[in-house]
Amino acid sequence: MTARVPLFAANWKMNKLPGEGEAFVRALGELLGEGLDRADLFIAPPAPMIHEVGIALAHFFPRCSLGAQNCHWLGSGAHTGEISPDLLVQLGVRYVILGHSERRILYREPDSEIALRVKAALERGINAVLCVGETKEQFEQKESKKVVLEQLRNSLADVPKETAAELILAYEPVWAIGTGLAATPEIAEEMHLAIRTEAHVLGYHPRILYGGSVTPENITAFMKITDVDGALVGGASLDPAKFAALVRAGLTTRD
Ligand code: PGA
Repeated sequence: MTARVPLFAANWKMNKLPGEGEAFVRALGELLGEGLDRADLFIAPPAPMIHEVGIALAHFFPRCSLGAQNCHWLGSGAHTGEISPDLLVQLGVRYVILGHSERRILYREPDSEIALRVKAALERGINAVLCVGETKEQFEQKESKKVVLEQLRNSLADVPKETAAELILAYEPVWAIGTGLAATPEIAEEMHLAIRTEAHVLGYHPRILYGGSVTPENITAFMKITDVDGALVGGASLDPAKFAALVRAGLTTRD
């Protein structure tokens, strides 16, 4: 099997305003324009900024792909506030984050709907980044594996293996997101191995990202783990210099 290409994703969440997207992309292109042969990158801006960021990427940093933070499973219809996967295709989006814990917890997206979203994205050739992760309470109750593997099984229900070449998973412990308290490399190693094993049993061969308070300082320790193929980055992706440093540091372990 060919080695998995590292992937670094910038999840801007509900941050930044028009104009800031282009400035970010210009700066990132200058910082990372050279010497990134074996790495994939994407930026997932807030939906109204996808167009602006897509144009900026085409001009200043075509090496980096365009992403989105969610999508619906239907191509169109009466779904106020939702985003069509067909629209994302038209906008040039190559990656979409699905089942993020903020969507699962704050907006009550169940596994059954996430499965539909994943399927719809993959059917259109968009790389689906399916997020799984346990809460602090579940972690303390030592239920992490049970919870995460259940999320995985349920969120992949009916996702055909033939369309799943573009499937990516992200292990994001909820207690590590935006808290500055990243998982230890030992926890990440154990969880990523469990996730990869389960994915194989289910018939998928995805790249698996770690997410949760990843920084330029701690990325190297994660990337040393065989089953960690990259990172989904929130806070540290808002500043181009920080995100570029994180990507560079992450790649040093793979040279
Ligand atoms: P964080 O967010 O890097 O700010 O912890 C990660 C994420 O939620 O994807």
